[in-house]
Amino acid sequence: MSDLQFDARLRSTGRIAADIDVLSGPRYTSADHAIRRYAYVPEYGATLDFLATEFRALGFTVEHDPVGTFVARNRQSGTPVFGIGSHCDSNRNGGAYDGTLGVVTALEICRMNREQGLDHPLQVIAFLEEEGSGFGQMLLGSRIMAGLISDDELAQIRAIDDERTFFEHARDAGYAPEDWRASGRFLDDLVGWIEIHIEQGRVLHDADEPIGLVTAIAGYEHGDVTIEGRADHAGATPMRMRVDAALVAAETTVELERLAIAAGRGTVGTVGELTLEPGWINVVPGGARMSLDVRGTDDEAVAVVMRDIVAFAERSALGRGGQAVYRRRVHVPATPMDTSILDALHAAAERCGEPFRAMPSGAAHDTMCVAAHRPTGMVFVPCDEGISHSPLERAHPSDAALAAEITLDAIGALIGRA
Ligand code: GLV
Ligand code: MN
Ligand code: MN
Repeated sequence: MSDLQFDARLRSTGRIAADIDVLSGPRYTSADHAIRRYAYVPEYGATLDFLATEFRALGFTVEHDPVGTFVARNRQSGTPVFGIGSHCDSNRNGGAYDGTLGVVTALEICRMNREQGLDHPLQVIAFLEEEGSGFGQMLLGSRIMAGLISDDELAQIRAIDDERTFFEHARDAGYAPEDWRASGRFLDDLVGWIEIHIEQGRVLHDADEPIGLVTAIAGYEHGDVTIEGRADHAGATPMRMRVDAALVAAETTVELERLAIAAGRGTVGTVGELTLEPGWINVVPGGARMSLDVRGTDDEAVAVVMRDIVAFAERSALGRGGQAVYRRRVHVPATPMDTSILDALHAAAERCGEPFRAMPSGAAHDTMCVAAHRPTGMVFVPCDEGISHSPLERAHPSDAALAAEITLDAIGALIGRA
């Protein structure tokens, strides 16, 4: 590595670390024990204000789409630009890096673009509600921008905190959500898109490699099983005379583990939400709701697990004298990354001289939605012990600086080729 390259990486590392530090402060999170910010809460607004100030200082224009997705660009609308970015909302139990590291690294790429006199045409996007922490729907901002949602679906979305609609909240925050289809124009100008993100698993950590180049992103189906049993006295009702909804939920949870393992090919299944009704110690549960999250890069394996787990829940409920009904929230297919972007990233990673690997992403990303319209790629950096969606999440700004260098280099090659 040349002295110049060493100095540049050091400078980027310092600036990325400083940005992460700012956005981990009390102004930017609504929880003491974790990073927690989601659409339309003051902490999220403060985060967008911080980004706006930084991008304006670089001469970028800053806009929000009709629901509040943040966009900054160094060319006029209608001019071709290369897209970079991620999201800066967090999981409710989040850390400082999931999403936010990708946004501040995109900001760093814009600083390097200017410092190195490159002036590549760039557009940065920080998508709204990637995590679903505010409204229970992952990738909401990117599905809106990519037009991968309907008016009816949007109208039904309600806030987790107060059950008011997404549209009401967006209007109160000063947006015009009924114009959501106009958001698509921000993808129209993109000639390509690269998202930098922490891996959220432990492959890179264990291999001691600072960079992963994503080949494909796992698809997922999210939905809910609602189980109807019968509430009875927990002391007076003999075991064989119960219609216990909790037992159906428990059996189904264990069966999901078995089905996902049997499906193989990286398929995973999780019951992350489980509620019992009425939820009192001395009442046999008369109702239950359980979420299903099934993912994988093999769409067929995901579909088979979904089909079989729903059939199992229905059988289990009927066998106990109750019933179970499944309702899908959303399905997003597995998304391969664009080969020419992957090739450009591969060549840039080789030029930077650090170890890297090609790998799939198990977590979902906004890039899945961008990929419906434009060629896309993703660059992963490791997180310590693979921990994510936890306040213990840690990543290294020096790895993000490397990702910035590789991404900027790849963009230069891709633009030169276009
Ligand atoms: C997004 O955070 C996911 O759960 O994949
Ligand atoms: Mn994320
Ligand atoms: Mn996340």
